Amino acid sequence: MTTLITHIRHLLGTHDPKKPLRGNQLAILPGIEDAFLLIEDGIITEFGAMFELELKVPQLPKNIIDATGKYVLPAWCDSHTHLVFAASREDEFVDKIKGMSYAEIAAKGGGILNSAAKMQNASEDELFLDAWKRLEELSRLGTGAIEIKSGYGLTVEAELKMLRVIKKLKERSALSIRSSFLGAHTYPIAYRDDHAGYIDLIIREMLPAIAQEKLADYIDVFCETGFFSPEETIRICKAGKEYGLKPKLHVNQLNSIGGIEAAIACDAVSADHLETMTSKDISLLSNSNTIGTLLPTAAFFLRMQYQPAREMIDAGCAIALASDFNPGSSPSGNMNFVLSLSCIQMKLLPEEAINAATINAAFAMELQDQLGSITIGKRANLIFTRPMPSINYLPYAFGSNLIDQVMINGEFVQ
Ligand code: NIG
Ligand code: FE
Repeated sequence: MTTLITHIRHLLGTHDPKKPLRGNQLAILPGIEDAFLLIEDGIITEFGAMFELELKVPQLPKNIIDATGKYVLPAWCDSHTHLVFAASREDEFVDKIKGMSYAEIAAKGGGILNSAAKMQNASEDELFLDAWKRLEELSRLGTGAIEIKSGYGLTVEAELKMLRVIKKLKERSALSIRSSFLGAHTYPIAYRDDHAGYIDLIIREMLPAIAQEKLADYIDVFCETGFFSPEETIRICKAGKEYGLKPKLHVNQLNSIGGIEAAIACDAVSADHLETMTSKDISLLSNSNTIGTLLPTAAFFLRMQYQPAREMIDAGCAIALASDFNPGSSPSGNMNFVLSLSCIQMKLLPEEAINAATINAAFAMELQDQLGSITIGKRANLIFTRPMPSINYLPYAFGSNLIDQVMINGEFVQ
């Protein structure tokens, strides 16, 4: 099917960078005012200013959509989520209000272990249906691509179950989905005193089974005090790489313990969280190919310091934004709120935030050839905004739903 979108107030993200945007480049968000966009079979095949329409599209298709007053931009790429989980954790939320810390909740069997306990008895069908509903909600909020992690299973069977659910989501959803194996999310109770044994289980049993069923694209480890050390992280990533899984890691959320060094040593596609960054960490990351993925809603929800985004951008780090959607530290996958928080609390300019949540986030999922910008040949995954005074209004008016319609592969999400 061919669809022509006309009279777009401002078509944004009309660039095709070959590397993630860094430093001053991050603030450059090119666009075309009073624009048109042509889509054929879900792919962008032409775009330009309305005055060029006759020249560029001599034969108008039947299906024409008038986008007068609307901004059109690439759909959000959410490159870090834990979308598949068995139950919400609002009781812990109340414990936190009463004064318990995230670490204290984890120590008494809450947190990840709480989710892992609920995961054991959940059926694949239930998990799929719940995740499907979440995915539908997120796509209406403008998310067109998403990375989803395992990591609430922590046994061979339950990790495989989670990854099979993600695989089924990939097969059935129009969204672009990437899958990460996060067996090293925490030590399960059975291995509380046998960390080496659990790492062996990951390497000897989980990884081969995952590779055989082709269940994951990436390997992730929670590199943190009380979880996995940098040395253990490197060991697990090396093992993952032997099965073709590139690392995308949780580092520097609570402590700076060498997670950045580990991520760079493993040539990780991305190092994510980064609430706790020393100036040395920032400098190391800026000189690497690893993308720093900032998760401001996790810092917001846990009442932690925000990621030092300004320092990182100014130092030349390539940064992306993601939601970290999960029941414990970010029970929302709303990328519009991620955008607002990044501007309000981390002082990103709206253009920087949009680039970080689109093209740079596409790089963080290695989907930059298909998604993340308005480029001929890329998928038509698009956000159509409600009429607004300027693009700055999008992060500014946090809490308002300014997303009018979302298109995935050239078709409007219902
Ligand atoms: O990315 N920090 C590690 N993992 C998740 C939270 C897990 C949970 O609390 O369920 C995160 O924030
Ligand atoms: Fe996470």
